Amino acid sequence: MTARTTTTTSPAPANAAGASYTRVEGRDKVTGAARYAGEIPYADLAHGWLVLSTIARGRIISVESEPVREMPGVLAVLHHGNAPRVDSDYVGMLGKPDPIVEVFQHDRVPFVGWPVALVVAETSEQAREAAEALVVRYEEETHDVAFSSAHPGTYMPDGDGMLMEKGDLEAELAASTHVVDHEYTTPEEHHGSMEPHAAMARWDSGRLEIVDSNQGSGWVADELAKLFSLDPDSVRVRSEHVGGAFGSKGVRVHQILAVMAATQLDRPVRVVITRRQLFSLTGYRSPTAQRVRLGADADGRLRALDHQAHSLTSTVHEFVETSAGFGRPMYASDAHRSVNRVVRLDVPTPTFMRAPGEAPGSFALESALDELAEKCGVDPIALRARNEPDVGPVSGLPFASRNLLAAYREGARRFGWADRDPRPGVRREGRWLLGTGTASATFPVIVAPSTAAVTAEADGTFTVRVNAADVGTGARTALTLIAAEALEVPRERVHVRIGDSDFGPAAISGGSMGTRSWGWAVRAAVTELREQLALGGDIPPQGITVRSDTSAAVGALTQKERHSFGAQFAEVGVDVATGEVRVRRMLGIFAAGKIVNPLTARSQFVGGMTWGLSMALHEEAHRDQATGGHVGADFAGYHFAANADVPVIEADWVEDTDADDPVGIKGIGEIGIVGAAAAIANAVWHATGVRHRNLPIRPDRVLNAGGALDA
Ligand code: MOS
Repeated sequence: MTARTTTTTSPAPANAAGASYTRVEGRDKVTGAARYAGEIPYADLAHGWLVLSTIARGRIISVESEPVREMPGVLAVLHHGNAPRVDSDYVGMLGKPDPIVEVFQHDRVPFVGWPVALVVAETSEQAREAAEALVVRYEEETHDVAFSSAHPGTYMPDGDGMLMEKGDLEAELAASTHVVDHEYTTPEEHHGSMEPHAAMARWDSGRLEIVDSNQGSGWVADELAKLFSLDPDSVRVRSEHVGGAFGSKGVRVHQILAVMAATQLDRPVRVVITRRQLFSLTGYRSPTAQRVRLGADADGRLRALDHQAHSLTSTVHEFVETSAGFGRPMYASDAHRSVNRVVRLDVPTPTFMRAPGEAPGSFALESALDELAEKCGVDPIALRARNEPDVGPVSGLPFASRNLLAAYREGARRFGWADRDPRPGVRREGRWLLGTGTASATFPVIVAPSTAAVTAEADGTFTVRVNAADVGTGARTALTLIAAEALEVPRERVHVRIGDSDFGPAAISGGSMGTRSWGWAVRAAVTELREQLALGGDIPPQGITVRSDTSAAVGALTQKERHSFGAQFAEVGVDVATGEVRVRRMLGIFAAGKIVNPLTARSQFVGGMTWGLSMALHEEAHRDQATGGHVGADFAGYHFAANADVPVIEADWVEDTDADDPVGIKGIGEIGIVGAAAAIANAVWHATGVRHRNLPIRPDRVLNAGGALDA
């Protein structure tokens, strides 16, 4: 159709989704014009500084706030003895809230780093000085922070997806020619976004306004309204720019405490969580211990796949890192069992962290498959092809699209896999042992109902309002391209506004569902707007606005196995003198549906793969058994990959379409990390002849393991 408002003469505007575009807010970000929640100035702003518990379990006896109240600039000391009561007995979007929302509601301390007080002062420095001077007395109880799969408190949670079984597992294992049976472990890992959590709260004409850094402003607004028993319409949360989130930025203590303090003092209050405080306040990835048993015929055909994953949670909330779910859509086998178990310890509650479940789960299962390939004498890619399922291996449902093998074909060609000598520990270049490895990736395709509004403005531009969150992914740019393509106008004429709960319900930026969900709503609104514009007539000064709601369309999706897939490749060098592993190159080829903006999509994949490298070689949080707290909980002590550790990482994709899917966008935020650590661990085996089943693959572990290093 030709919209009357469309003045372009080009039949195919050069803004089609699929071409590469820099971020629409890129200039604002690099010039500092883009403001983040922790740095926006407000008249009369007061500053809150958190005080965290120093014991791992017990009770608060006293918060000795009197001396602190006399310190310069101090306005208030909030704690469990004087804070307003909240109603935490609600069910939010993701179920019961993490009880960290019950901040200052009782005197119990469930872990080191639990919030025990908030000092509010005229300046951030004054608040910090007073917070550091505040004396809190505790009655301490013995604690248990020692995680292992053998912990007697381990149990299988209720709830969907904890256990899936098919066939007679033990019989198939007994009938197998080759069996692999090992435990793989991953340590406690942290998200640590570049921008720490921050929120400003103030009352404005009877409305509560919160300027925050989050993954879903509607989500945060809804939970705050429930928590403080407020009319949902009286709470507005905005989050325009977000410097990373990765699963950590939902409802957290900073928003709640900012609201409490702003209400009590009747002035704007901002609470910023410090880098060190993030380690106990904003979630993390549980350590895992995963037993994988694979049984196969002589040629590598799987008879049995058993994945038993263990993780930890806190004593106050049940969060499960569902690592055992990774294999469910992956490989055909006569018998299947995947089970997630958890143990409650005196530690902070873990949470979603980039590819929750799939990231550690893929390390275990994709390492075990490499071990099976070795035992069977089958090439690792051929082994995966041999076990390719026709339908969901556990569900029996058809796949919406499944292009894992296409990703392997393209990856193998570009990586040069055909030239690989399968023998381990035989390539050496000076002091470096060399090896290559591969592993599969997958992540589910998720969608949530969303609303969007598109306005045809009188000046010929279009304004899109959708409560999306751009956590650094490029979502704002992707939505601009999606809208421009649907409108058939140059992208410069489209202005996308996001990050405002007043824009109406929309998916969060999580589970890789954002662009798929919001893009669907934007396209639906554009379709209807174009029908209205086709009728002709003038556009009034306020423009013509059409709203969409995808609830019905999303609900009508047929039940299928919907996943992205990928093939990860890595080449490593292992220093025979120091045991250091250096990744020399990585290649990831993904089958992840329609790619909206190749430039930022590549960044998403490469970012995930970089994190996988970091997970394989560097990251682990150390918890001290005696105190129950972290050792080195900062960016000096928590070691992660820096520029010098990261070689050229290439990511690309293969065609992956699903004719039945109304949007075709699958989501790409998480799959890049999946399988990356296994590909590196498999490459380390190929280099050294030794399996590393415990991450990270530190130099001391490599040296102690020996293998070709001692040859
Ligand atoms: Mo992601 S871990 O679902 O934010």
